Amino acid sequence: MKVLLNRDSDIPFYMQIAGQIKRQIISGEIIPGFRLPPERKLADSLGINRTTVLNAYRELKAEGLVGSRVGQGTVVLSPLRDEAAGMENRVPEPPWNQIFSKYAHGINSFIVKDLLTLANRKDVISFATGIAAPDSGPIQALAGIEHDIVLQKNYRGLLHSPTEGFSTLREAICALMQPRGVYCHHDEVMLLSGSQQGIDLTSRIMLEPGDIALVEEPSFFPAIQALKAAGVRVVGVPMDKRGMRVDMLEPILHRYRPKLIYTIPNFHNPTGSEMSLERRKQLLELAYKHRVLILEDDAYAELCYDGQPLPTLKSMDSEGYVIYLSTFSKIIYSGLRLGWMVAHKKAIKKFAAAKQIMDLHSSSLSQWIVERFILEGGLNVHIPVICNEYRVKRDAMYDALTQYAPSDAQWNRPRGGYYIWCRLPEKVAASRLLGKAAERKVVFVPGTAFYLAEQGDDYVRLNFTFAPLKDIGEGVKRLCEAMKDLKDSNDVSEEDEPVEISPIV
Ligand SMILES: Cc1ncc(COP(=O)(O)O)c(C=O)c1O
Repeated sequence: MKVLLNRDSDIPFYMQIAGQIKRQIISGEIIPGFRLPPERKLADSLGINRTTVLNAYRELKAEGLVGSRVGQGTVVLSPLRDEAAGMENRVPEPPWNQIFSKYAHGINSFIVKDLLTLANRKDVISFATGIAAPDSGPIQALAGIEHDIVLQKNYRGLLHSPTEGFSTLREAICALMQPRGVYCHHDEVMLLSGSQQGIDLTSRIMLEPGDIALVEEPSFFPAIQALKAAGVRVVGVPMDKRGMRVDMLEPILHRYRPKLIYTIPNFHNPTGSEMSLERRKQLLELAYKHRVLILEDDAYAELCYDGQPLPTLKSMDSEGYVIYLSTFSKIIYSGLRLGWMVAHKKAIKKFAAAKQIMDLHSSSLSQWIVERFILEGGLNVHIPVICNEYRVKRDAMYDALTQYAPSDAQWNRPRGGYYIWCRLPEKVAASRLLGKAAERKVVFVPGTAFYLAEQGDDYVRLNFTFAPLKDIGEGVKRLCEAMKDLKDSNDVSEEDEPVEISPIV
């Protein structure tokens, strides 16, 4: 680094020093990571006061060109783009919009960090997330298993697994599928890095860009995203309390000739509804007649709080048209990123080839922990425990809505799953309610997030599994107060501007 002072210049010394160092940084003569000489040393070599050098370094810091690191003094940072602008010989910033692939252009940002941040704040009651309270998970049991793995130096969980997953875990999943009415062979099972990966894989393996897929409307937002990102045209089929309006399906099948129907027959996200048995039968018949595959997403299969769940489509599928997805996210922990798929073994082979390209295999450690948890009987003990807990939480939310909601609001009492779907009172739009509720420190996901087009602003999805039981009544009370506030005010003031959000799944 070279610094020469012009003692005849009107420019103050500190500016001369800062200017020369800046030029050397931007031209690349001094590279990021270079340590500037200590202030006293540079001051001594130039025969000036240390404060002058200190001020020069402060200027550079203010421009983001250098930073202080403990034990390293003042270090050169990567030059800022703005500073580099106009400098000859600099390579311009990559033309991102031209570089991004068609696939990338098809993806919208759908996880809104603001809401997530808000939902994670300790003083906020969150009905927004799609996860359970962390303390409901089997942390002790899993910690014990992980400890054993380390103690026994069992490398199985730390090395590669087959792409389809450990065969012992696939066997365990076959056993898990039996109460769901499915008697499969482990060749028909593949582990996934979350069941969401199964939706993505299906979109790539089974569909061409331009193909059409039908989804219930509203539906699980990331599924719509995955399909659209693969260039698939997504068409919504209306729903009611008994699930997809299968009675409306035939003309839709004739008109659009879809290749796939994505459905969540059990404890639907976001509505909590169940597809009736009659409709399940009709759906399969129509799928066979029109040669359409069904992607059955059974994420909430085990979480039935009253009676027994209805038979899965997969269990009723005699012709192999159903690709079945489920997950450990909703019954153990979502961060394990472990779900599974059951499909015809020919399809599984292709899925496995595609998954191999994507991520080689799902986490061996997660697989190993979950396998042990299932085989040691932990999962069988855990599921009734969480079902009891969530039943109580669901009832607490339902009762609180009964107590506090305006008389023209409507909501359901789902038999299972994670969500209550609430129709807002007249004149209350979910997008406006979001801001009002956030002021009262309670958050939810507006219905609009789950629709293909501009719809759903009269609904909210309320998750009842995440918030502590003691907060559910208070959260609903605050939410209902916000509804009443909006209902009473006809004015749309500036503060009431709709808040733009997308869902936390
Ligand atoms: C219907 C549905 N499918 C899939 C998922 C994602 O599950 P995973 O964590 O296994 O990817 C969710 C999570 O919210 C869901 O609601």
